[in-house]
Amino acid sequence: MQLHISVATAAVALLAVVDAAQLSWSDAYTKAKKDVSSLSLAEKVSVATGIGWMNGPCVGNTPAIPKIDYPGLCLQDSPLGVRFAYNVSGGIPGVNVAATFDKSLASARATAMGVEFREKGVNVQLGPDVNMARVPEAGRNWEGFGEDPYLTGVMGALTVQGIQDEGVIATAKHYILNEQEQDRTTVSDSCSSSNADDRTIHEVYAWPFARAVEAGVGSIMCSYNKINGVYACENDDTISRILKDELKFKGFVQSDWAATMSGVPSALAGLDMTMPGDITFGSGNSYFGGNLTEAVKNGSVPLSRVNDMATRIIAAWYKLGQDKKYPSIGVNFVNYTDAPFRNVQHDHKKIIREVGAASTILLKNKGNTLPIKTPKSIGIIGSDGGPSPGNFGPSACSDHGCDNGTLAQGWGSGTAWFPYLVNPYQGIKSRAPRNTKIVTSFDDYDLKKAASIAKSVEVPIVFVNADSGEGYIQVGDNPLGDRANLSLWHGGDALIEAVADANPNTIVVIHTVGAVMMPWLNKVKAVVNAGLPGQESGNSLADVLFGDVNPSGRLPYTIAKKPSDYYAHAVNSLEIDYSEGLLIGHRYFDAHNIDPLFEFGYGMSYTKFSYNSLSVKASKSSVTVSAKITNSGKVAGAEVPQLYIGFPKSAGEPPKVLRGFEKLQLKAGKSGKVSFDLDVAKELSIWDTTDSKWKVVHGKYQVYVGASSRDIRLTGTFTL
Ligand SMILES: *[C@@H]1O[C@H](CO)[C@@H](O)[C@H](O)[C@H]1NC(C)=O
Ligand SMILES: *[C@@H]1O[C@H](CO)[C@@H](O)[C@H](O)[C@H]1NC(C)=O
Ligand SMILES: *[C@@H]1O[C@H](CO)[C@@H](O)[C@H](O)[C@H]1NC(C)=O
Ligand SMILES: *[C@@H]1O[C@H](CO)[C@@H](O)[C@H](O)[C@H]1NC(C)=O
Ligand SMILES: *[C@@H]1O[C@H](CO)[C@@H](O)[C@H](O)[C@H]1NC(C)=O
Ligand SMILES: *[C@@H]1O[C@H](CO)[C@@H](O)[C@H](O)[C@H]1NC(C)=O
Repeated sequence: MQLHISVATAAVALLAVVDAAQLSWSDAYTKAKKDVSSLSLAEKVSVATGIGWMNGPCVGNTPAIPKIDYPGLCLQDSPLGVRFAYNVSGGIPGVNVAATFDKSLASARATAMGVEFREKGVNVQLGPDVNMARVPEAGRNWEGFGEDPYLTGVMGALTVQGIQDEGVIATAKHYILNEQEQDRTTVSDSCSSSNADDRTIHEVYAWPFARAVEAGVGSIMCSYNKINGVYACENDDTISRILKDELKFKGFVQSDWAATMSGVPSALAGLDMTMPGDITFGSGNSYFGGNLTEAVKNGSVPLSRVNDMATRIIAAWYKLGQDKKYPSIGVNFVNYTDAPFRNVQHDHKKIIREVGAASTILLKNKGNTLPIKTPKSIGIIGSDGGPSPGNFGPSACSDHGCDNGTLAQGWGSGTAWFPYLVNPYQGIKSRAPRNTKIVTSFDDYDLKKAASIAKSVEVPIVFVNADSGEGYIQVGDNPLGDRANLSLWHGGDALIEAVADANPNTIVVIHTVGAVMMPWLNKVKAVVNAGLPGQESGNSLADVLFGDVNPSGRLPYTIAKKPSDYYAHAVNSLEIDYSEGLLIGHRYFDAHNIDPLFEFGYGMSYTKFSYNSLSVKASKSSVTVSAKITNSGKVAGAEVPQLYIGFPKSAGEPPKVLRGFEKLQLKAGKSGKVSFDLDVAKELSIWDTTDSKWKVVHGKYQVYVGASSRDIRLTGTFTL
């Protein structure tokens, strides 16, 4: 078993060790069933019942059962790294992983996380988040992989694989239709219901979970909200029918923290583990525990259901090889300093820097303003360009619940502490030529100083941001996690205007959780969207600004010209209707002919690419599309050819659906071939609600290969 693997490069990730001890589900079930058959009813129930909030070292804990040598499980946040722990990496959120459009980097980043969770003795990582960025303001969008189900499915599955290859159980969450923060957890009947039809659930929101199940995910977390009127964790339709019957999910369903709303109905619907165990945090009672034992005894829950719960949980533990010398628990969430010292960071900062640079999206670059070469002077203007002021270190506010200094993660349970945070000033300073003068102003509201610096320097760079997070923390005037609007924070628009008015060569760098409005766009020369780049933020940015890395990030969400162009918004309502159906994100903009400011899949490079030689081959079961991509510019760079499919009209699909992407590194003048293989049954079928199954629609299909969802370079057709 190899623990200390290097993940510095994508190539290494491909070699990441698949633990030889890992079992098939069927072998894992055989072992688990044997164990479970020797347990008493109360012991079986205990496998499924967390020991209660803050009663153990991890955010979730289940008890040991010594007679079967089962140590119980440690469950810990987050989707980007080990939460509440020292000496871990302050990694990169899902939204930036998605923006790389790079499968090998997604794997390498997941491998690094798997190594850290494993070495900290965590059995179950509470990630990845594969909810959809349906609503641009939604607080937790940055934890997931953007607005497209296909992109989310690919990135989610690779993340599950990378984590689990290191022997850690991954958790795909939050199942399902959990796409905003407001009214998400309000207890009892005032919790919102997300309402969507069965086809939309299958083709959009369950799609990434289906890909996670194919990747062998060990756990899935049900969410707080209701789905079509029924709580997610007692929802027979989504848990038993879709997840367990249709998708054949073999692992265990755990509740989000205190998202279990009942005992008998939840058990019958297929919930396998209640977390953190107590009904409300610290209440000391449980819907499972004694209540579940009682429910089996009085005949309201069949014993077979409790056997199944325990079997699924213990099988996941066997499948990941955790019965073989798993590291002891190395975190302590109740008393942070009372954990064994264990530095698990290795050289993960290299992969974090690489993903940070690869996810940086160049949105505008008039007159080749970027890359910066050897300017006499650079101005760094705006609080986002510098350190947190005063006592606000990068991890100062609980769960990053503030927006001080540069922004590199959102807030909430989806965070990990930064071991350090390289801010843009530091990154630029250490990369800039020694005789380049660097002048700074980190005060967002001192527009006079900003303008005077802008006037005095050759290259003024304005740093702005927009933050959001989980609903239990309010930052600024943002209602419970979701953003109040899509404007920049801290007066960012005014700061940019002041700088641009003073110097026409203004470059804007945005750190953001998602789309922001850009009323100043025509006044500036270049715009860089760096998303949330994690601990190496400033270095990743400098790599791109100075041209050491040619930008190749692509937007995993649509940036609209105005907020009202989006269909869905965060709403304060008990009914959240997903009435746009399949038309999430860019699909809606296509269907309604709305021009976005920057479309899904968009991003510029310092070089140019041409597309040629489309080939389309279709058979009954598969379709292969290929094309030749040439770097026709002067420097090496990476292109992200994207495949969109237009279904026959009668299918009732959006005009274009994403069904493939690859990242190609090409030297100047060189060509490469990109090839997309589609599985007809899986990727070219629609969910037939009448027969409740996937169905192929016969007819003529359009093939679009392009550099974004709106920059289609090659078209073709095939017939099924
Ligand atoms: C480990 O974390 C502690 C607490 O933040 C810190 O003082 C120490 O320097 C860290 N050690 C390493 C090797 O990162
Ligand atoms: C059983 O569940 C009820 C709520 O239905 C709760 O009030 C009670 O405390 C629980 N009992 C135990 C032993 O946890
Ligand atoms: C069986 O026990 C459960 C848990 O205490 C309780 O909620 C349920 O009402 C009981 N059912 C019957 C029929 O007694
Ligand atoms: C936390 O752990 C440290 C180190 O073991 C110990 O000194 C301290 O007393 C603990 N704090 C509490 C509140 O238990
Ligand atoms: C830092 O964050 C705190 C907490 O959100 C906030 O009150 C304060 O205004 C922030 N300071 C600056 C300079 O942004
Ligand atoms: C956006 O929301 C923030 C926080 O509530 C508020 O301060 C700001 O004025 C709003 N901006 C616009 C353009 O509505």
